Amino acid sequence: MRKFIKAPPKFYFHYPFPVTVVVTKSEGKTNLMSAVWHTQLSFDPPLYGVLISSKRYSHEMILKSKQFTLNFLDYEFLETVAYVGSTSGREIDKISVFDIPVEDGRIVDVPVLSEAYAAYECELYDHRDYGDHTLFVGKIVGVHYDDELYYGEKFHPVVEKVLPVLYIGDEVYLTTDPQTKKKYGKEEVKEFLKRWGGG
Ligand SMILES: Cc1cc2nc3c(=O)[nH]c(=O)nc-3n(C[C@H](O)[C@H](O)[C@H](O)COP(=O)(O)O)c2cc1C
Repeated sequence: MRKFIKAPPKFYFHYPFPVTVVVTKSEGKTNLMSAVWHTQLSFDPPLYGVLISSKRYSHEMILKSKQFTLNFLDYEFLETVAYVGSTSGREIDKISVFDIPVEDGRIVDVPVLSEAYAAYECELYDHRDYGDHTLFVGKIVGVHYDDELYYGEKFHPVVEKVLPVLYIGDEVYLTTDPQTKKKYGKEEVKEFLKRWGGG
């Protein structure tokens, strides 16, 4: 039965979301955290936002260094997402404890994860608090990607090959099922409208 609640204390009704691993570096120290609250904001300029609670160590790292990278891992690496999303860089050095391979960014002085199928290098463009989280807007200054996983001039993901880590909440993860792939675009909509008009 469909129900309605007023002003929910917490809301995960719209999950699942893909996870990104936010990497930060400040004063020679590198840190990682998982984030599901993130979104593309603009193509021109290329802007990408991630929402981080001020409780996170990563929050103060970004405010200091004004740079970060966003890393997208295949489902096979979901342990990494769980590890870095449930420990704090204030207490441990996540890269050495969890043995996570990284390599230098090309433009920003922040590493990217070697195992990421795609990673955005970002310079802080803007930031603003929204309730209990801060929206950090990064300008994407470089993209690392596995060229076997993308096609065409616009670099669309190959559905059969890109298996993102999706988070549905309550410490549960899943990925996409390529068998559900279906193309439904302008042509299909046109066909529908033709039938509707002619009906
Ligand atoms: C799957 C997953 C997604 C998360 N998404 C977010 C998020 O979007 N924003 C946020 O502030 N914290 C998020 N967290 C929590 C942080 O990753 C977590 O508090 C982490 O320990 C912070 O590390 P730090 O203190 O080293 O920065 C998420 C955790 C998990 C496991």
